[in-house]
Amino acid sequence: MTKICCIGAGYVGGPTMAMIAFKAPDITVTVVDMNAARIAAWNSAELPIYEPGLDAVVKACRGRNLFFSTHVKEAIREADLIFVAVNTPTKTYGLGAGRAADLRFIESVARTIAEVAETPKIIIEKSTIPVRTAETIKTILAAGGRALDHQVLSNPEFLAEGTAVADLLAPDRVLIGGERTPAGARAVEALAAVYARWVPRERIITTNLWSAELSKLVANAFLAQRISSINAISALCEATGADIDEVAGAIGRDSRIGPKFLKASVGFGGSCFQKDILNLVYLCETYGCPEVAAYWESVVSINDWQKQRFAQRIVEQLFNTVADKRIAVLGFAFKKDTDDTRESPAISVVRDLLAENARVVIYDPQVPERQIVKDVLGPGSESERLTVAVSAEAAAEGAHALVVVTEWDEFATIDFARILARMQRPAFVFDGRNLLPLEKLRALGFRAFGIGKPAAELAAPVIVSETLEPVLAAV
Ligand code: UDX
Ligand code: UDX
Repeated sequence: MTKICCIGAGYVGGPTMAMIAFKAPDITVTVVDMNAARIAAWNSAELPIYEPGLDAVVKACRGRNLFFSTHVKEAIREADLIFVAVNTPTKTYGLGAGRAADLRFIESVARTIAEVAETPKIIIEKSTIPVRTAETIKTILAAGGRALDHQVLSNPEFLAEGTAVADLLAPDRVLIGGERTPAGARAVEALAAVYARWVPRERIITTNLWSAELSKLVANAFLAQRISSINAISALCEATGADIDEVAGAIGRDSRIGPKFLKASVGFGGSCFQKDILNLVYLCETYGCPEVAAYWESVVSINDWQKQRFAQRIVEQLFNTVADKRIAVLGFAFKKDTDDTRESPAISVVRDLLAENARVVIYDPQVPERQIVKDVLGPGSESERLTVAVSAEAAAEGAHALVVVTEWDEFATIDFARILARMQRPAFVFDGRNLLPLEKLRALGFRAFGIGKPAAELAAPVIVSETLEPVLAAV
């Protein structure tokens, strides 16, 4: 019988532990968090995070072998395996501010384990952390007084929000890093055996500790780098008349490049990409590789530039002023199918528009009003220039422009003819996700712009008429 405890009931800890409990009914999984309100939500009908399919998984095993609790010490004492999934935000103070990861929660968890553990534990880093954090954890544990042979593993999470349940069910790989000693190998096998309940063995990769820790940062840096690369090219497309989706389609057909993560956008967001790259940059600087640091830092700079460029284009197209104009922003989450707004490009775009004295009305199907206002203006602030609407249609009422920032499916099915009738003229659409049919919108009478899409005057003429189509098809 194995007992698992997970410290940190967030976006990573909650869904990951729910899946382990679901797939391994004989293992007792207790998720603990110091945030009592969050634990209460995990125990209620309304889970604290929105993730498609998660409700069913949690309901199937909550109270059976999945428990959510605030009794951190008790859960640590009873567990054999302890996952650490607390947050590791970018430091905002002192040495490495703005880049390095703030490890104070990791350290405090390690100290608590050292204080209360009565038997040897396998401690598993789930949080993204700098390389060699396991060493810090081991040192703290070893200094804890009791001579217990704890093992530390690195088991980074690769799930993406919005598809967490699918990613956990069928991961591309599970990565487990451990010490290359007999005790380390036994610990790695104990954790591999948990995942092997549902993940094929050949997908469970084992490495040394430092490789596993670094691989997480590098995987996210590579993914983000693809987005910044395609976004950089999107600017060139807008200037030349090339179409970024056609370019992405053409290069993605090369099997060495591949089609995924080539969708041009207003910029990437989310809790991981920027934070992990900055973390990598800081590591490179610390270990004496400034050229490598500069290379990866440019991925973040291009992303910042892409967000600003999008807002700037809106202002320029609206005759160089949005002062007192009503701008309807559709979507606020950092991507569709999540209520998470951390580092969402919407925050930067909305702030830029407010700085130009626009009146911004936001609609998002999942993000609550208080969250939107807090993200844009900071805690406790309000502004009459920033309001939240209950639907896309309500947001568009009397607006000069519609701005799509999140690719929610429902935006693709909006009745634009109906909406146009309620907007100011000329009516503008700025699609930050290339979700909407620009040609159709232009035919309706909108001035429509996409990312990396040529403006109407640059768009290639459509030469395939209905009479020509059969001829071309025959060729
Ligand atoms: C976290 C990290 O941010 C990320 O780096 C890592 O890759 C995975 O784990 P996430 O689950 O999204 O990501 O974080 P968050 O939703 O903030 O959850 C962390 C939880 O830990 C919070 O609920 C917080 O209350 C809890 N926590 C934090 C503790 O219980 N104890 C602590 O000492 C610190
Ligand atoms: C990411 C990684 O994908 C995941 O493996 C890791 O564990 C955590 O970080 P997440 O941030 O949840 O996951 O979402 P992801 O789907 O990677 O999207 C990140 C951002 O990039 C979003 O803002 C998304 O809209 C944007 N994006 C993604 C693009 O702009 N274009 C793309 O082609 C793909």
